[in-house]
Amino acid sequence: MDIASVGALEILDSRGTPTLKVTVCLHDGTKASATVPSGASTGEHEAVELRDHDKNRYGGKGVLKAVAAVNTTIAARLAGMDVTRQEEVDRVLIEADDTPNKSRLGANAILGTSMAVARVAAMARRVPLYQYLGGMEAVRLPVPMMNILNGGKHADNSLDFQEFMIMPVGAPSFAEALRWGVETFHALKSILHARGYSTAVGDEGGFAPNLKHNREAPDLIMQAITAAGYQPGRQIALALDPAASSFYRENKYHLDKSGEGVKTSDEMCQLYAAWLDQYPIVSLEDGLDENDWDGFKAQTAALGHRVQIVGDDIYVTNTRFIARGIREHSTNAVLIKLNQIGTVTETIEAVRMCKQAGWKWIISHRSGETEDAFLADFAVAMGGGQIKTGSACRSERIAKYNRLLEIEAELGSAAEFRNPLAV
Ligand code: PGA
Ligand code: ZN
Repeated sequence: MDIASVGALEILDSRGTPTLKVTVCLHDGTKASATVPSGASTGEHEAVELRDHDKNRYGGKGVLKAVAAVNTTIAARLAGMDVTRQEEVDRVLIEADDTPNKSRLGANAILGTSMAVARVAAMARRVPLYQYLGGMEAVRLPVPMMNILNGGKHADNSLDFQEFMIMPVGAPSFAEALRWGVETFHALKSILHARGYSTAVGDEGGFAPNLKHNREAPDLIMQAITAAGYQPGRQIALALDPAASSFYRENKYHLDKSGEGVKTSDEMCQLYAAWLDQYPIVSLEDGLDENDWDGFKAQTAALGHRVQIVGDDIYVTNTRFIARGIREHSTNAVLIKLNQIGTVTETIEAVRMCKQAGWKWIISHRSGETEDAFLADFAVAMGGGQIKTGSACRSERIAKYNRLLEIEAELGSAAEFRNPLAV
């Protein structure tokens, strides 16, 4: 199971922005590829996505330097290594880069390689990827958090908050949860259409209408849930990712897109508390800025018993920041994104840290994605029961849902599905 070659190609992601496809071949001819996602509302401390900055190609966003890093340095270092030694391979990648934020070879070059190594190892072992990474206990399907209304940096509209999600927590299986979510998405389309709103979609496949104010988003979603024949709260709950770093400046939160004014950290907390009183919201991610550690702590003390408080940009899937969050009770859950940290092994370590602390974790896509469904297998492998992978349209989102349907069918009666937030 030794590596014969590693090679990369510059391809495009769902926004038409260049990314990498890395292919790993073994001596016996087995080969597999993986592609790398890319965020828009990125955290300040994320591992570095290496771009060419050559204005003559793709507005500077080409990734030929990262491709070259795979084809030269990485290929040379990994040649002959045993592909089933994921931790060792990832350590060699980290050492070859030798920077704290993977800026020399690029986290995109490193992650594409790390994922392709895992995939080809699973193939060589003749087991599905979720089982290769998660073992025989990897039988739990995640509840999808479906981002059906998009705002913030993901859409040119009037919404300050980035993601308004539905979570079919009451469904009996993943397939049913997905169906409930998809039917709600279609009901929302009809409602928006009837009110004369645009039904064009944003980066993650959610609708991106110019609503009159932020609250109209949950109001319309509640109507859509009911119109689709489901009970808001009991069957389908709501989740929010305001991605507040994107509207934070000079110690204040600026709700500019909707024109709802400027707020302090405390006032944002009060606003969320009022929303929790009014809507069946079960998860609140990045309600505050990534550097507002005091605010997060206060928010978790005030609301953490009522709702899952998720840290995304504040932790960037980095155990150094997650450890601080656990010490300071900053949140009670973590958003996990492979490309924020840059290797499969380090991502698994982040999940392990959450598990040990009794925290929850959510396996997440990026707003720029590809047709690669690695994430679906990864979510089942990590357990935890929650995945964030977009709305109910756009094939780069649906690819993950389709793969989860396949995994659930393959597991048959061994498959588990339950509400991760039930007390
Ligand atoms: P991003 O958004 O991929 O643009 O960072 C996703 C998120 O904030 O969860
Ligand atoms: Zn987020």
